[in-house]
Amino acid sequence: MKNVSILNLKGGVAKTITAINMAHILAIIHGKRVLLIDNDKQGNSSKFFNLHNYEMPGIAELLTVRNTKIREVIQHTQYANLDLISANMNLVNANLQIIMDVSRQQQTILKKALQQIESEYDYCIIDNAPDINISVINSLVAANEVIVPIKIDQFSFDGLKELTEQFEAIKELNPTLNFKGCLVTQFTKNDVNVQGEDHLNNQANYPIFATHIRRTEKVDESTFSRQPIIEYSQRCGAAKDYMNFVKEYLGE
Ligand SMILES: Nc1ncnc2c1ncn2[C@@H]1O[C@H](COP(=O)(O)OP(=O)(O)O)[C@@H](O)[C@H]1O
Ligand SMILES: [Mg+2]
Repeated sequence: MKNVSILNLKGGVAKTITAINMAHILAIIHGKRVLLIDNDKQGNSSKFFNLHNYEMPGIAELLTVRNTKIREVIQHTQYANLDLISANMNLVNANLQIIMDVSRQQQTILKKALQQIESEYDYCIIDNAPDINISVINSLVAANEVIVPIKIDQFSFDGLKELTEQFEAIKELNPTLNFKGCLVTQFTKNDVNVQGEDHLNNQANYPIFATHIRRTEKVDESTFSRQPIIEYSQRCGAAKDYMNFVKEYLGE
């Protein structure tokens, strides 16, 4: 199983949209067995798959309740080969609880849990909160790869620098972590986006995926109908781009 953490300290850059659609395309088009982990208290990925609730245990319980088996917190989505660990507001308390419990290793809980299902999935995609809290650190310690969705503006370029610093710090805990690439999302063909993308392509600090994701109103609509983009509108720009992105990711 390859663990991929979708990360950016900023909100609104399409972390959740990328995690959902990457997971769905890997499962449906490429026949991979995929586990999607919602690691954000907002629970957007969980809501998207109609699995947001307070009855089923999710990521918060996995991280805090000792002896929770990871299989107990995995739920099936309506799509074959695509399972989910859900999140809700309990993750706020969970983050405090983990830090206060000094009797166990705080950063490796998720990594150890994922080792139990290593052979049951091909990919684990983790949708993170726009934050560096202990549950996000758990996700980075468990990850083999990081993908950073970015929306082009000055703030995201500033954020990228901070992210690289955080990323270097995490490498002390997880030396083999691979910065797989930045993914430009919500791309519109205007001067800012074209020049911003050029700027990214001409620097050597971060790898950039050649595929960018076009801004398409269909993406917003798809969140209302709670359908992954290739189910909602297979022919729209973002659907084609996400399919190409996953191909590029897989090296096909
Ligand atoms: N390619 C796109 N085209 C248009 N809107 C998009 C696109 N990608 C994301 N969005 C919209 O941008 C907003 C933020 O996306 P989201 O995935 O929730 O970001 P994050 O998880 O980083 O906070 C959402 O309203 C989403 O519908
Ligand atoms: Mg999100």
